[in-house]
Amino acid sequence: MTRTVTTSVLAVAAIFGGTALAFADGELNLYSSRHYDTDERLYSDFEDQTGITINRIEGNGDELIARMEAEGANSPADVLLTVDTSRLERAKDAGILQPVDSAVLKDRILSNLRDSDDEWFGFSQRARIFFYDKDEVSNPPQTYLDLADPQYQGMVCARSSTNTYNQTLLASIIENHGEEEARNWAQGVVDNFAREPQGGDTDQLRGLVSGECDIAVSNTYYFARAIRSDVEGVSDHIDQIGWVFPSQDAQGAHVNLSGGGVAANAPNRDNAVAFLEYLTSDSAQEYFSGGNDEYPVVPGVERSEAVQKLGDFKADDVDLSAVAKNLPAAQQIFNEVGWK
Ligand SMILES: [Fe+2]
Repeated sequence: MTRTVTTSVLAVAAIFGGTALAFADGELNLYSSRHYDTDERLYSDFEDQTGITINRIEGNGDELIARMEAEGANSPADVLLTVDTSRLERAKDAGILQPVDSAVLKDRILSNLRDSDDEWFGFSQRARIFFYDKDEVSNPPQTYLDLADPQYQGMVCARSSTNTYNQTLLASIIENHGEEEARNWAQGVVDNFAREPQGGDTDQLRGLVSGECDIAVSNTYYFARAIRSDVEGVSDHIDQIGWVFPSQDAQGAHVNLSGGGVAANAPNRDNAVAFLEYLTSDSAQEYFSGGNDEYPVVPGVERSEAVQKLGDFKADDVDLSAVAKNLPAAQQIFNEVGWK
């Protein structure tokens, strides 16, 4: 059965109107690397409002991309949800997504938070910022470039360059400052390391508490999680940790995305488009971002309590699909400067 685009527009009208209609009956096969309890409401609300049943396949983002590639034209996937612009771009490059021309998505999501070819869309934002030990650091770095300043020698902790978050951060520095300055920056940060890169973002925050690190690079939601819940080695000493949204007088803080797109061979394409459009509704935005203490992509949507505590900031509005093009250059720089 061939459904026209009109179907999804009607389905979304039903969603926003809050009326459950049966005409959109059917299935949606969702490949997702999200695994937050709070997402349950996100899915059940969509099912209630549209009559569409969501079948979820959950797994690691890279594994899901590989699986869709292997399944090829026979893939049952309708929607892929994953994290990090680099991964969304990799999915696009692998040919497993398709363009979606949706007025709702274009209207609700700022243009720099979605692919310029309409293949992927951001649904929540995480900023990559500086945290510091308030007892040790009286003048924390204020810009990304500051982090390479020799005054912070032996103070900085960051995770490995194999991590997509750091790759995308460096790719954004290349976009904003050029490759030469990005290389100098990466070298300067390596020179300032307090220890070899190790662990995840939460481990960098733990390093502030344990005294191994004075300044740590981490995504905002790891800290927000430590505010909201009991994160061992962080929450008990949360008041000791200060934070800086970098480059507020310049381009703004680097943000990354959790997002997704419609699968290249989606058997239920209209339902897939309707689902992505639903994710930009106010209530879905609250579940989607709040579930992992992230910032919504739709302006004006209420933030979770922990995210409110982190506060407002100016985000770098550099085009993230342009940033993603710099990922190979970023990886090369990391190798050159020995950022493990
Ligand atoms: Fe993460």
